Amino acid sequence: MDPATQKKWDRAALGYDLMNGYGPEWRWGPYKRRLFSTMAGRVLFVAIGTGQDIQFFPAGQEITAIDISPRMIEQARVRADGYDGRLELRQLDVHDLDYPDATFDKVFTSCTFCSVTDPVIGLRELRRVLCPGGTIGMFEHTGSRFFPFNLMLDLMTPLMRQVGPELNRDTLANLQQAGFVDVNLDPVYLDVVKVIHGVAPCASGALEPDG
Ligand SMILES: C[S@@+](CC[C@H](N)C(=O)[O-])C[C@H]1O[C@@H](n2cnc3c(N)ncnc32)[C@H](O)[C@@H]1O
Repeated sequence: MDPATQKKWDRAALGYDLMNGYGPEWRWGPYKRRLFSTMAGRVLFVAIGTGQDIQFFPAGQEITAIDISPRMIEQARVRADGYDGRLELRQLDVHDLDYPDATFDKVFTSCTFCSVTDPVIGLRELRRVLCPGGTIGMFEHTGSRFFPFNLMLDLMTPLMRQVGPELNRDTLANLQQAGFVDVNLDPVYLDVVKVIHGVAPCASGALEPDG
């Protein structure tokens, strides 16, 4: 567990709902609801934060939701208790999951891989715990290819990184680098906010040492 990242998000938990709870969830809610409507089988959700995403989960699923921050999880618990299905919350670092290979059928993320310190290692770990042919569905914001957005996001990232997410990640490339196949995206806003899909390859359950 990375203590610096944990502390940063513990601190962010306090004002998180105030900053992110209303406008953004109202705006992105329909996209998240559509993505999460494909939840089925053994589902892993990374990272639950204060539980804002739970309102968009389809009822009746069996979901394990993790987060590195105990403070975030504490806040998510009330929303998790109201979920009409089975929702287990666990404090775990996505870089180092304690699940055996091929534990889950589907993985979902939501504004997560802007925040994970080493995204390729985290995504490799998700590939490991997915069964071969299992899918990942991500609602994420990333960097942009277009000027001046790319410059703006690059300039803001060092500051934002201190208190929250990175703003210029290339999550599509990171997924491919982590060994996911059939990687594709649905744009949501400009080329920054997007839904990304990928598949854990079927050929072999074994992972190469460095990807
Ligand atoms: C921007 S918040 C998104 C939370 C929630 N999905 C939402 O959209 O409101 C990013 C979350 O990722 C979590 N996180 C950061 N690094 C992590 C890691 N290595 N493992 C698990 N969770 C992590 C943080 O604690 C935080 O709750």
